[in-house]
Order: sequence, then C-alpha cells, then structure tokens
Amino acid sequence: MLRSKRLALYVLTVTAVAVVGLWTTAAKPPRLPADRDHGFEQAETRCLQCHVHTGAHPRPTDHPLRDDCFSCHRDAHGGLHPRPGAPLSVPGGWQDDPRLAGKLGGRGKRP
Ligand code: HEC
Ligand code: HEC
Repeated sequence: MLRSKRLALYVLTVTAVAVVGLWTTAAKPPRLPADRDHGFEQAETRCLQCHVHTGAHPRPTDHPLRDDCFSCHRDAHGGLHPRPGAPLSVPGGWQDDPRLAGKLGGRGKRP
C-alpha cells in the first residue's frame, strides 16, 4: 500500500515538473503595445500593413501559422479580445509570407 502511494507521488511530481517546464518555456504571444496602432477594434489586414514580411516590423519566422491576431495577443493590460469568426488566414498574412509558409515545406503556397 505504502509502495504504491510512493509511486503515485513520484509520478505526480515528475508530471508536475514537466508541465511547469513546458508552460514556462513555450513561446508566449507578446502583448500589444499600448498605442493607437494597436487598438483591438482594428481589422487584421491593418495590422499586417506593418507586420507583413516586407513590412517595418515583420513577424518572426517561428510565428504560429495564423492571422487571427486577437485570439492570442493580449492588450497592454492583459485583456484578450478574440474576434468571433476571425479568419485564420487573411490576404497578406502567413500564406503570403514565404518565410512562414515555407514552414509547411512548400505546401503553404497558394494554388
Ligand atoms: C503603423 C504600424 C503598425 C501597425 C498598424 C501595427 N503595428 Fe504592431 N508593432 C509596430 C511596431 C513598430 C512594433 C514594435 C515597437 C513597439 O513595441 O512599439 C510593434 C509591435 C507589435 C507587437 C509586439 C510587442 C512586443 O512587446 O514585442 C505585437 C504582438 C504587435 N505589434 C501586433 C500588432 C497587431 C495585432 C496589430 C493590429 C491591431 C498591429 N500590431 C498593428 C507597428 C505596427
Ligand atoms: C496562435 C496565436 C497567435 C496568433 C493568431 C498571432 N500571433 Fe503573433 N505571436 C504569437 C506568438 C506565440 C509569438 C511569439 C513568437 C516567438 O517569440 O517566437 C508571436 C509574436 C508576434 C510578433 C513578434 C513580436 C516581437 O517581439 O518581435 C508580432 C509582431 C506578432 N506576433 C504579430 C501578429 C499579428 C499582426 C498577428 C495577426 C495578423 C498575429 N501576430 C497573430 C502568437 C500568435
């Protein structure tokens, strides 16, 4: 009885350490800067005017393959404002970004 309890405790501890480790090292979406360019009422295509791959501040190559910005990026106060029905890919978004689309090994190209 004591043995199995110890084993359970061991398994639980190892799992907890692994979960906490993954949680703290996984890339977290940075919050939006608190300026006029980053209001969450904007369209995603507006965001891409600056964050497209040829723009002034392109997204990193390990960025998730999605364009529904507000599902992940919180405002400066930590609030999340997901837009229901926001498309996962918008014109000028990751499917048009050769570096991000390249992550799919060429399958990301549009027909
Ligand atoms: C007028 C150009 C412009 C527009 C429009 C714009 N951004 Fe940015 N964005 C920037 C610049 C420049 C930075 C980096 C400088 C800074 O932190 O202020 C930045 C930073 C960011 C960051 C990173 C913040 C950090 O701490 O690393 C995120 C996330 C982001 N923008 C998302 C968005 C989203 C989502 C939209 C649409 C609502 C958007 N941006 C619209 C220019 C723009
Ligand atoms: C599925 C969640 C998700 C969505 C949707 C998303 N992002 Fe991100 N974004 C992230 C994560 C995670 C990172 C951090 C990536 C890293 O550091 O490797 C990031 C990083 C960024 C950065 C880099 C910030 C810096 O400090 O350099 C910018 C800019 C950015 N995102 C803009 C956008 C814009 C614009 C959109 C919408 C067109 C968008 N993101 C949609 C999760 C997301």
